[in-house]
Amino acid sequence: MSFYSQDLVEEIRSGNDIVDVISGYIKLQRKGSNYVGVCPFHNDRNPSMSVNQPRQIYHCFSCGAGGDVFKFVMEYENLTFPEAMKVLADRAGIVLPERDLSGEDRRQADLKAQIMEMNRLAAKYYYYMLRQPAGKQGMDYLLQRQLSAEIIQSFGLGYADKYSNSLYQYLRSKGYTDQVMKESGLVQVDEKRGMYDKFWNRVIFPIMDTHNRVIGFGGRVMGDGKPKYLNSPETKVFDKSRNLYGLNLARRSRKPNMILCEGYMDVIALHQAGFNQAVASLGTAFTQQQSILLKRYTNEVLLTYDSDEAGVRAALRAIPILKNAGLTAKIINMEPYKDPDEYIKAEGSESFQKRIDEAESSFYFELRMMERGYNFRDPESKTAFFRALSGKLLEFEQGIERNTYIEAAAAKYHLTYEQLLRMVNQTGVKQGGLAKMPSPAVLSGRKKKRTEDGSLRSQRLLITWMSSGEQMFRNVRKYVEPEEFTDPLCQKTAELLTEQWASGKLNPASLFQYFTEEEEQQKVSAMLQDTIPALSKKEEEKALQETILRVKQDSIAWQTEHMDPNNMEMLQKIIQKRREIEKLHISLD
Ligand code: CTP
Ligand code: MN
Repeated sequence: MSFYSQDLVEEIRSGNDIVDVISGYIKLQRKGSNYVGVCPFHNDRNPSMSVNQPRQIYHCFSCGAGGDVFKFVMEYENLTFPEAMKVLADRAGIVLPERDLSGEDRRQADLKAQIMEMNRLAAKYYYYMLRQPAGKQGMDYLLQRQLSAEIIQSFGLGYADKYSNSLYQYLRSKGYTDQVMKESGLVQVDEKRGMYDKFWNRVIFPIMDTHNRVIGFGGRVMGDGKPKYLNSPETKVFDKSRNLYGLNLARRSRKPNMILCEGYMDVIALHQAGFNQAVASLGTAFTQQQSILLKRYTNEVLLTYDSDEAGVRAALRAIPILKNAGLTAKIINMEPYKDPDEYIKAEGSESFQKRIDEAESSFYFELRMMERGYNFRDPESKTAFFRALSGKLLEFEQGIERNTYIEAAAAKYHLTYEQLLRMVNQTGVKQGGLAKMPSPAVLSGRKKKRTEDGSLRSQRLLITWMSSGEQMFRNVRKYVEPEEFTDPLCQKTAELLTEQWASGKLNPASLFQYFTEEEEQQKVSAMLQDTIPALSKKEEEKALQETILRVKQDSIAWQTEHMDPNNMEMLQKIIQKRREIEKLHISLD
């Protein structure tokens, strides 16, 4: 994975204290020997991420994200390992040696970087074509849509010509193989035609991530053809659920909110009109990851979904997603126009600013939409509406927030606060009552799992102890060999810690490079991050004794279960071991 020497990795690591680095992204607070903060990798308002300074690792107890300083930067910034190395090296003032990207190395260079480079070349190619005589039709189309030369430039718009393999030929001339080109989603293969371009005879919208790297493309027909838009497929660098069109520009807008709309053209028209805080999802529904991404830059999101039924549905779907990420949502009314692009063309930007100022809070919008399904003249239907309203109010956290909304809704529907509160509480009791009854099957299943969990818990706890310091490591290793861990992940971690210790220094943070699977990394970070409660020496000794015994006993039980019953020698060994354990006296140095 790495092109760099282990020494260099460690030099960069030690130049970047994990608490300093993570503090640059999220607010950390000291809590005991750890630092805690709100995890940026899932939607949360509670500080469930813990950063351990002595061990230089982080771990979120809620979503499981975890790793070392490199992992954090990779995840947060959506970077590859070499890219994160570069960021952290720069931060520490360390100069990286030039990487030789010729010949074999180039083929070895990870696919992600190659796709990124092909995207960059393709964007430049389309950009250039738009400005050629052959690109006149594209340019005419964009100008006819009233885009200015500056905005066409700042969004890097381009043009794919009428031939269905120009880009393919171009990328081939740059030395890319058919195989990697397919991975970029820019070219496709067909039995009859062979390799051909995904986009042709379209204006092109390059899609950028927050680092201004081109990750994919959208292409629009110049007129009424179908499909109106084509988008790059998801690739190793293009995750539609984690990026937003225009965010690379909007993140620098310094506006008090972000405007979320549906289309590429809407984003561009809004930016041109001065609303440079506009972003759009990428031809797919708005996701939770996208709202977490937005929360990094703002606290309020204004929705400008199309003013048709589909747009209302999309807005109703987006609202809870935004609120989940801790964002306030408001809805901009675009009537009688379809989308912001049309609105601004017809009414201008001052008028649109008014609509922004009058945006309706998501709660009232939701209520208004809910009302449409009921008939207030029919008492039964009216009661059903109030039940639905109560259910909606239960979504707010109990306390000040819920009370505020109960008050507001009561006023709106001419009820007293007490009346509505009673309905809300009744609905709450009904909902809660149903949720509280676990089935017997669930309970029995749980019990069986508990003994297995106990064994695993002891092993993980022992790893936590071993990684907590040299002296404790020696204490444990005196009694326990790595192969006595029956859990493969614990065993591997124990082996790696032993290697580190033998070569002079425990370095828990550098263990992560040996675990490539996300799931493994999360488990390892959980073990390393766990803290042993502060105990007196005597209590600690006792806890350690029990844990060591448990791990050794479980190891023998496992061996007994898995051994060949005819292997007398093995049996004797096991019996011998069992005796040793009985006599074992464990003491701390
Ligand atoms: N879209 C898509 N594929 C389609 C149609 C739409 O991926 N066949 C996505 C595009 O991201 C587009 C967005 O949905 O930007 C909104 O579509 P639509 O409202 O139909 O288009 P407009 O944004 O109004 O585009 P235009 O003004 O160019 O007609
Ligand atoms: Mn439109």
